[in-house]
Amino acid sequence: MDLERIREGMTSFFAPRQDPNHAFPPASAAVFFNARMELNRDATVLLVSLLRPDRYLDAMGATGVRGLRIANECGVPVTINDRNSDAVDLIEQNAEGLGELVQVTQADINVLLSGRRFDAVDIDPFGTPAYFVDAAARSASRYLFVTATDTAPLCGAHLKAGMRRYFARPLNTDYHSEVGLRILLGFVAREVVKYDRGVEPLFCFAREHFVRLHLRLNNGAEAADRTLARIGFVHQCPACPARVEEHGLIARTHTCPECASLLQPIGPLWLGPVSDRLLLASMQEQLKKMELGKKAQLQRLMQTCESELDMASFYDYHRLAKRWRVSPPDIAALIARLQEKGFAASRTHHAGTGLKTDAPVGVLQEALTRG
Ligand SMILES: C[S@@+](CC[C@H](N)C(=O)[O-])C[C@H]1O[C@@H](n2cnc3c(N)ncnc32)[C@H](O)[C@@H]1O
Repeated sequence: MDLERIREGMTSFFAPRQDPNHAFPPASAAVFFNARMELNRDATVLLVSLLRPDRYLDAMGATGVRGLRIANECGVPVTINDRNSDAVDLIEQNAEGLGELVQVTQADINVLLSGRRFDAVDIDPFGTPAYFVDAAARSASRYLFVTATDTAPLCGAHLKAGMRRYFARPLNTDYHSEVGLRILLGFVAREVVKYDRGVEPLFCFAREHFVRLHLRLNNGAEAADRTLARIGFVHQCPACPARVEEHGLIARTHTCPECASLLQPIGPLWLGPVSDRLLLASMQEQLKKMELGKKAQLQRLMQTCESELDMASFYDYHRLAKRWRVSPPDIAALIARLQEKGFAASRTHHAGTGLKTDAPVGVLQEALTRG
């Protein structure tokens, strides 16, 4: 393998030189590496530096960058696994300076996870994590971290694939990125609760072409029931911007409160908070002390997530402005107008033109058109 040295955060490692003319350069070499996932890795390094699990499993290591960074930058013992022997050789080479902190294994992840428990389990596949979540839910003692890069099935662009992977019905809406995040979170929650355990989202977000979940797992039937109570549906009107949330495992029939059309159910999906605000505040403090390549972007992301309302969908207010033939105001001004009218309103990390509010559509139209 033709290798090049890369530095991410405080960690140096080797990755295969990629073919820049390949349709997807990260997959052009014998071992996968995607430099564009640095923020995703930075977020986990930051979080793990606070959580300090007893042992962290990087279940799908490739170059091993994730696990290497956790060992090197957080001082946490890690196991780095991959089933591919080229990857395992490279991980061993990359781990040389880290001594006892890094253990390297070569196994199919479902086999490894079925035979051993780890305090934190991280699943980072290329595509869907759906095939691995059940085994990860059994193996992880306290923390479960999951990436999905199959955003088209998650968000409703590939409807049938989404239904097959996640036992849920997405819908391609203006807020498709949020639907993807919440369908994945709902799916993971359902995989966990069958073992009488619950999930508590710590820091979950969607960005570019991936969704990233950081979850705490809590033991006991009560924790599982609290998790189940967060599952439900968003019912979207096909004719106007209105939508309604409904908790529960069965989607009932709803008509639009604005125009009486039959609403389309999206889900089951997660309706609860997707991050822990107190933890986000501590992470922002911790970030000040750390050297991370995507520090500024991560800081902005966490700030937005901290202020984001917990509701499960948002409006693209530029699209609403077009629909109602008005020029869109500044988002901060629009949020202030809605708050002055007594409604909650916030930005969302999903889109710069995304607006969350509990105001009815009529009030939103008034705030957009008349101020
Ligand atoms: C997207 S890459 C991981 C990227 C890496 N975590 C990073 O941050 O750069 C996915 C890796 O999972 C490995 N893999 C795929 N299926 C696997 C399985 N069933 N068991 C173990 N490893 C698997 C692949 O060989 C590949 O190296």
